[in-house]
Amino acid sequence: VAENGLDGWLRYAALPSDIQKSHATPSTIVVLNSSETSPVYTAGKELQKGIHGILGHELEVTGTTNNTNASILVGTTESFSSVGGNTTEVPHLKDDGFWLSIENANVYILGQNERGALYGTFEYLSMLAQRNFSQVAYATSPSAPIRWVNEWDNLDGSIERGFAGPSIFFQNGGVVDDLARVSQYARLLASIRVNGIIVNNVNANFNLLNASNMAGLGRVANAMRPYGVCIGISLNFDSPRNLSSLMTTDELYEHVPDLAGFLVKANSEDQPGPLTYNRTLADGANLFARALKPHGNGIVMLFRAFVYDHHLNESNWKNDRANHAVDFFGHLDGQFDDNVFIQIKYGPIDFQVREPPSPLFANLLGTNTAIELQVTQEYLGQQSHLVYLPPLWKTILDYDLRIDGEPSVMRDILSGGRLNRSLSGYAAVVNVGTNTTWLGSHLAMSNLYAYGRLAWNPSDDEVAVLQDWTRLTFGAGKTIVDTITMESWPAYENYTGNLGIQTLTDILYTHFGPNPASQDDNSWGQWTRADADTIGMDRTVSNGTGFFSQYPAQVTAMYEDINTTPNELLLWFHHVPYTQQLKSGKTVIQHFYDAHYAGAATAQMFPTQWAALEGLVDHERFEEVMFRLEYQAGRAIVWRDAINEFYWSKSGIEDGAGRVGKH
Ligand code: GCU
Repeated sequence: VAENGLDGWLRYAALPSDIQKSHATPSTIVVLNSSETSPVYTAGKELQKGIHGILGHELEVTGTTNNTNASILVGTTESFSSVGGNTTEVPHLKDDGFWLSIENANVYILGQNERGALYGTFEYLSMLAQRNFSQVAYATSPSAPIRWVNEWDNLDGSIERGFAGPSIFFQNGGVVDDLARVSQYARLLASIRVNGIIVNNVNANFNLLNASNMAGLGRVANAMRPYGVCIGISLNFDSPRNLSSLMTTDELYEHVPDLAGFLVKANSEDQPGPLTYNRTLADGANLFARALKPHGNGIVMLFRAFVYDHHLNESNWKNDRANHAVDFFGHLDGQFDDNVFIQIKYGPIDFQVREPPSPLFANLLGTNTAIELQVTQEYLGQQSHLVYLPPLWKTILDYDLRIDGEPSVMRDILSGGRLNRSLSGYAAVVNVGTNTTWLGSHLAMSNLYAYGRLAWNPSDDEVAVLQDWTRLTFGAGKTIVDTITMESWPAYENYTGNLGIQTLTDILYTHFGPNPASQDDNSWGQWTRADADTIGMDRTVSNGTGFFSQYPAQVTAMYEDINTTPNELLLWFHHVPYTQQLKSGKTVIQHFYDAHYAGAATAQMFPTQWAALEGLVDHERFEEVMFRLEYQAGRAIVWRDAINEFYWSKSGIEDGAGRVGKH
């Protein structure tokens, strides 16, 4: 199982023998034009392995076409044309896109580039593994060219907000010797069409760029290249000064000729940045971008928008951390070089259980942007709680920002379409570790899988994506698929922080257990402003922090009026008495009490639902998942009582159902 764990959703588990026998596959795999480090070569090997695992058929890989035998042909459209293949049926493909045609015994997998050919291969194998033997002919291209993951790994092997053991990349100040796990990770990433990875923590260490580490980065790049995953690095803004000059970039290129780019966290949480030197954030981003420019197109500089003042005075009701991204970046729109992206966390605060989308997306109309999601569950249970994240991400991706009063759905902004930009993207903080489940929990891998799927096509249905993952990871049986379609995010929101009050974890240290008191009386700005009578942040223009004014007019108007503010974000936007009535007719405090009971009750069901899978999934994974779900069920009660008792003792308002304060 350990080995299968490393395969994640690429287990290629054998189908029942009657299906294996009845399904004839072509007899050969034809791989066009490939060197051993090419993703097309990898595709050939993967087809061989996958078909053997799923169908038990042994196929040969050859480099030439053979017209008499049916074959699975994989290559680029260009290489196919060059051997006389007819590509008239293939529509225009964007970079990394592919054409997949399965007709009788002939399969054609044609990538726009080599990476696309590998992506199409994984798609075909995913169909077989899910017992989908349809005849198809279609093309698909990515919604955005940048589909990256960020690892927050430190050179000493620790991982910031990592919940799955030490780093697969680094230990003792350098790159690890054995990079087998790095290749296996690249394979998983390629199968979900992730094309870039930042390998080290955004809180970056200068020593990453010493001579031996640059050689180490070269080895990491070599390990990932056959899967079409390019590496990039986080840089400390002071790196050029500390490393004498940006000439270091040239040296890095000698080791990593296909470097994806840099990610920089500057002027944030005590990191240095251009503001330290009286330069604008645009000057700072462009400085790095210009060092990259001579090395070619497609190499980019991602500059994080997570810039805020964490020495804020809570006694000033106009202070608001949520305002800062637009305050710092909004006026710089249009001043960034064309290979700069501003990487923006999905919400204005910090990966909370619910936030509105960052208004910065509606302020940077002439700048490349990328959204930053978080697969690692920093505030969301740290992989000890099951939380399937795509429903949360969809609240952001499906959000209409109404720029200039026109439809401006976030996924269309991120695809570049809405603002006519050719470059845009997705990044997710993933933080895999050496744990054999990668993320520390089997079920948490659904979030990584779904991230790749949604970055490729943000319109994909999140339930269908979860079902695909389930069939690939555990099996196609109906009970399995039905059981794993659980309502985990709403439950977690209910038993942690609802009505937009944020997650209510301890924010000072762990970001894990319940600690609503930790949100206030400090300078971090994740305030709830809860007192004996009232709660919530007043972000109105008329009376509060004015945050709303950062959105386009129609969105501002919706939130400015408490009656048109959706319940789920009420306390994110308004400061109200606990007795404020919601649209449901309940008061805010009664909703708190009830939601915490409802969320904890849902979590109590998880172990019972999982128990139905005993004997249907292997024993080891069954037990490991059960252990976590039982833990979650217990912790949900701890959460429920901690939060309810806290607000009961603050407000003195009785629970209408007589549960709270009676323990
Ligand atoms: C959060 C997280 C930090 C991280 C920071 C960031 O605040 O807790 O560990 O460094 O985000 O995104 O830069």
